[in-house]
Amino acid sequence: MSTLTAAPLAPLLDRLFEEAAAPAAIPGVSDLPAEERARWMRSKTGYLDLYRRLKDLPLAVSRETARLLYMLARICRARTIVEFGTSFGISTLHLAAALRDNGGGRLITSEFEPSKVARARDHLTAGGLIDLVEIREGDALRTLSVDLPETVDLLLLDGAKALYPEVLALVESRLRPGSLVVADDSDHSPDYLARVRSPAQGYLSAPFMGSVELSMRLG
Ligand SMILES: C[S@@+](CC[C@H](N)C(=O)[O-])C[C@H]1O[C@@H](n2cnc3c(N)ncnc32)[C@H](O)[C@@H]1O
Repeated sequence: MSTLTAAPLAPLLDRLFEEAAAPAAIPGVSDLPAEERARWMRSKTGYLDLYRRLKDLPLAVSRETARLLYMLARICRARTIVEFGTSFGISTLHLAAALRDNGGGRLITSEFEPSKVARARDHLTAGGLIDLVEIREGDALRTLSVDLPETVDLLLLDGAKALYPEVLALVESRLRPGSLVVADDSDHSPDYLARVRSPAQGYLSAPFMGSVELSMRLG
């Protein structure tokens, strides 16, 4: 058994994924033409407005990606994890469960929507994992610019896609050789992909399960 497959976490995740699968129409977002939505996703300024409109949606990683996150954090024996984009805390629960099963550690996650921070805190408490997690409320460009651990074993990028290069730059000096960076929906961040796929930048990188980009920091 692992923390992920035992109570209280397993039934909590079943419920959260079920709720996340429920279809939802968001006025001003779902009715946008696909091209316009893609442009918005890539905007470095429109993200506050976009995510404010999406504040009642979990926008969670897929169940498969979530399980991959747990496994990757176990495989690299992560003790320090940074996450950009908490939302309702579904990915956070997986990463914190891996920390628990690795023997403990620290997960710093960032979210600017106060109602989402409250929900994520409730879920982490219900899952018995809140003691491992520090939720930083506010724009990650500010909250992740200070007081990071000396070394980071795993970084998850899952906030505003246009900010992936900036958030990577904030954490990069802390990434130890062999650490992992996982970027969800990375096809919306071409600048980010160009960076981690360029051999000169110090990463080995490959797409995984559609638009998840998995990168390893080289020594
Ligand atoms: C795709 S969702 C994250 C889903 C979450 N990782 C999961 O799988 O459960 C992206 C979240 O990032 C938040 N966000 C986007 N840009 C942000 C920023 N610059 N700073 C903090 N939070 C941000 C949004 O409010 C949204 O809740």
